[in-house]
Amino acid sequence: MSHAIVMEKTGGPDVLKWSSRSLDGPGAGEVRLRQTAIGLNFIDTYHRTGLYPLPLPAVPGLEAAGVVEAVGEGVTTFKVGDRAAYPAGPVGAYAEERNFPAAKLVKLPDGVSDEDAAALMLKACTVEYLIFRTFAVKPGDTVLFHAAAGGVGLIACQWLNALGVTTIGTVGSDAKAELARAHGCHHTINYASEDFVARVMEITKGEGVPVVYDSVGKDTFRGSLEILKRRGTLVTFGNATGPVDPFSPGLLAQKGSLYITRPTLMDYVATREDLELCTGRVFDAIAKGHIKADINQRYALKDAAEAHRALEARETTGQTILLP
Ligand SMILES: NC(=O)c1ccc[n+]([C@@H]2O[C@H](COP(=O)([O-])OP(=O)(O)OC[C@H]3O[C@@H](n4cnc5c(N)ncnc54)[C@H](OP(=O)(O)O)[C@@H]3O)[C@@H](O)[C@H]2O)c1
Repeated sequence: MSHAIVMEKTGGPDVLKWSSRSLDGPGAGEVRLRQTAIGLNFIDTYHRTGLYPLPLPAVPGLEAAGVVEAVGEGVTTFKVGDRAAYPAGPVGAYAEERNFPAAKLVKLPDGVSDEDAAALMLKACTVEYLIFRTFAVKPGDTVLFHAAAGGVGLIACQWLNALGVTTIGTVGSDAKAELARAHGCHHTINYASEDFVARVMEITKGEGVPVVYDSVGKDTFRGSLEILKRRGTLVTFGNATGPVDPFSPGLLAQKGSLYITRPTLMDYVATREDLELCTGRVFDAIAKGHIKADINQRYALKDAAEAHRALEARETTGQTILLP
């Protein structure tokens, strides 16, 4: 018998129940992974509430690290005892053990601990595709990154700084502003007390920025369009305040022939080639000291509901992991 967090229905954190289960397998093409650390992500809350529907009952979670305990038929790339991790599901990470498709798993280098891997895989892979592949930043650019002290945000601050990019980061408190600056964010704006549009125009001397990375969604969408340069790009990649309201493409013409994209990590690691490109760049950035994990919250896996409450209440900074 092993344990997992199961949700029978969508709703508040209380729908996350600690349950026991027995596992068959692993099936062909799968390995059995004993998970040692699991990453908490905001998308887990969208799955829990039903904003992104999952077939129920479901075990949520998309990111974890662990040790291979058994290999299924046809698997030649992993052996028992290998340390491995995954950045983008399939869902089911909130579990002590699971069967997992070998094609979606990567081996962990010696220099990366299980906890750091669980904290970083999904979030650093997200930063990788956002800044190299969705809108490729250049040294000397000035960019805006919303929620700069969060799990994805602190990694972005560090990585952009290492690339010679000037980052303006928005945050919800002065303590978070200090934390973002300590991670290489050059200008911080507390959007709870300051008008971020006015402040960005002041910092950029009226020019605006070529790209805005916006995971806050509904509340920041209009302001994010205001601060883009002519032909700038809005990368809207999350909904912490709710999904963006429908808008007319004419708005993009009015604001200066803007581009907008709504990417998801799954489409940037869909092939084995992309998965290896992405995780390879992440491991390289860790090895070079360009990025590191900031695991500022640890919860027992059985207390996943508490972790969800803290994340949604904006009480967390950096990354949060769940420990089986
Ligand atoms: N599309 C993709 O591929 C992809 C991949 C990974 C993550 N994401 C998105 O990126 C964002 C960050 O993910 P994360 O896991 O690292 O979370 P996180 O940034 O650690 O937490 C979300 C942060 O959003 C800010 N926020 C602003 N208004 C909020 C509200 N009403 N409720 C809750 N939070 C609010 C808070 O920071 P302040 O207090 O500083 O405002 C909060 O700490 C999420 O929106 C997530 O869905 C998207």
